[in-house]
This record gives sequence, C-alpha cells and structure tokens, in this order.
Amino acid sequence: EFKPLVFSGVQPTGNLHLGNYLGAIRKFVALQEENDCIYCVVDLHSITAQLVHDDLRGQIRSIAAAFIASGIDPEKHIVFNQSAVPQHAELAWIFNCVARIGWMNRMTQFKDKAGKDRENASLGLLAYPSLMAADILVYRATHVPVGDDQKQHLELTRDIAQKFNIDFQDHIRQAGVGVDIVVGEEPIHAYFPPVEPLIGGATTRVMSLRDGTKKMSKSDPSDLSRINLMDDAETIAKKIRKAKTDPDALPSEVEGLQGRPEADNLVGIFAALTDKSKEDVLTDFGGQQFSVFKPALIELAVSVLSPITDEMRRLMGDTSHIDAILRKGGERARARAEKTMKEVRDIIGF
Ligand code: ADP
Ligand code: NA
Repeated sequence: EFKPLVFSGVQPTGNLHLGNYLGAIRKFVALQEENDCIYCVVDLHSITAQLVHDDLRGQIRSIAAAFIASGIDPEKHIVFNQSAVPQHAELAWIFNCVARIGWMNRMTQFKDKAGKDRENASLGLLAYPSLMAADILVYRATHVPVGDDQKQHLELTRDIAQKFNIDFQDHIRQAGVGVDIVVGEEPIHAYFPPVEPLIGGATTRVMSLRDGTKKMSKSDPSDLSRINLMDDAETIAKKIRKAKTDPDALPSEVEGLQGRPEADNLVGIFAALTDKSKEDVLTDFGGQQFSVFKPALIELAVSVLSPITDEMRRLMGDTSHIDAILRKGGERARARAEKTMKEVRDIIGF
C-alpha cells in the first residue's frame, strides 16, 4: 500500500479569487487535520503562457500568504514554491518521454489556452500536464484536491504513472523499490501510486458573476466577473450587487435552478460559504427575490473573506517571514523529492 499523502498547487498569476478559495484552498485547509499535506506555489507552471511577469516574487509570496491566512499550518505541513525543488523539472523531463504527444493534444485546457494559433503556443504549455504529473508523483502523493477543471489533467497523471509502472515493471523490481498493488483486476508491481482526485462539494466550479456559463477565472478581463481574495468589503458588495441574475424569485427546490446558471451559481456560493447544501439554502430563501438574497450573500461573503484578507495583508507586510517559510518548506520538499529521484534514476539506469 502507498502511504496517503495530499499534494496540490496554485499558480502565482494574477489575483486569487473566490473560485480558487472554494474550489481548492478551503479543501487544503480541511484536509490538513487528518493528512500529511504538501501545498505548492507552482511558479514553473506560471511561465508556460508568458515567461516574464511583473513582480513574480510578489505573486509567489501572495499565494503563500493566502494559504497561511486561510489556515494552512506551514510547520505541520509543507508550503513552498516549485522552482525551489529542481526535482520537479527533472521528473517532468522523464515524464515527457513517457507521455505521448497525442495525449497532450487532447487536453482541453491546452486547446483553450493556446487558442487559434496553436502552432505558436509554447512547448511548455503543451507539456504542462506532464509537469503537473511530476509535481504530484515526485512525492508519490496519493490524493489531489482540485477544482473540476483539473479532472482531465489528473486522468493524464494516472495514465503517465500507469505507463511508467508497466513499462518498467522489471526495472522497478530489480531496483528493489515499489509496492504490489491491483489496478482493475491486474496485480502489478508499481512505483508510482494511482492518484485520486478530490473534487467535490457545492462549488467544484464557481462561475463568473457576469456570465454563469463561464468559470470564474484569474484571466477574465472583467474584474467584476470575480471576487478577489484581496477585495475589500465595499468592492465585494458592489460586485455581488452587480452580479448578473434573472427577474424571477429563487425556487424552493434545487430542480428549479436548472436553466438558471447565474442563480444556481449564487446559491452554490452561499451554500459553500456556510457549509450547507443548496437544498438548505433554498429552504431558507425559496420564494425570495434577489433583492433579499444578495444582501444576505454580501454579508456572508464579507464575514468569511475579510479575516482572510486582513491576515493576508498582515503577512504580506513582512516579506522576510513569508520568505523564511518558503525557504524552509523548500528544503523539506527537496529532501523528499530527492529520495524519489534517486530511485527513479536507479530504475531508469542512469
Ligand atoms: P486559475 O484557474 O484561476 O488560473 P489555477 O490554475 O492556479 O487558477 O488553479 C488553482 C486551483 O483553483 C485549481 O485547483 C483549480 O481547479 C481551482 N479553481 C480555479 N478556478 C476555479 C473555479 N472557478 N471554481 C472552482 N475551482 C477553481
Ligand atoms: Na486552472
């Protein structure tokens, strides 16, 4: 059996938003109670679309600050940035030689991000999922909490692990490493675990406040489309007041949200922020107009987010403290990643 270990990452590009918080960071916090966890600021991923960013270091610090302000304990768990551990890139290269080009071409995120001019996208953007597989598997992590936009990438991670395990069966045995597991019906001697995505809850996908059919995203040009973790109370209130809705009252049953993506999204956000189900929210607000629901949502969102915002600002004011956390986290991560890479080099025969 593989030892349970949680890994996840967030890119240091642009503003963190409510989707990142509800879809990912809040789950990171919940998982740390009962698991060994590694949370990474994936700065190598952030250069795939654009190599040079303004103040990359500041962006890295702000993600680390968001992790800690949300309640992640960097003493008990590991918080670090990816480029501090070169083993990620080393394993990614090996995985580039395991993965097939056809697998990469099928990734919907690549198609979305590359747009029409695919021939001109960076090779790094195409290989992104291979680096993501390396991020996880360089620790032989077993569980990955993410939003559902990452589901396809995690399936690819499983495919890479499985191909490596099967192609190198004999070498893994000869190196005296790996464990016996059963995949489907087949017993195999595996070096990398089959990774389980942890996708679930009321808000696996938080949608844009301006268009309920698009996900809330850092890269949406409209700032009104998202609530940023650093927004103040007034800004949050303004964005929720301006959020797109329809003229009808809220339904009393979840079925009534069908075909009403904006209403569904706001009810889902309310549910996630109170740890309730959408059913419960509609029990309280069914039959009410948005003019009643929106002020309640504003009050709720501000009460959950403002302590995090305040703590983030406080942490960002002491960059040497954040840098020390990242440095220590990097050292601990590097030691664990190197243990894996020694074995991987041995398996391959370097
Ligand atoms: P983004 O997609 O905003 O560029 P990242 O790629 O860094 O952000 O994603 C960080 C985490 O946040 C991932 O686990 C991703 O699945 C999650 N996430 C991003 N956007 C959303 C959203 N709108 N709803 C739910 N989860 C999201
Ligand atoms: Na994403």
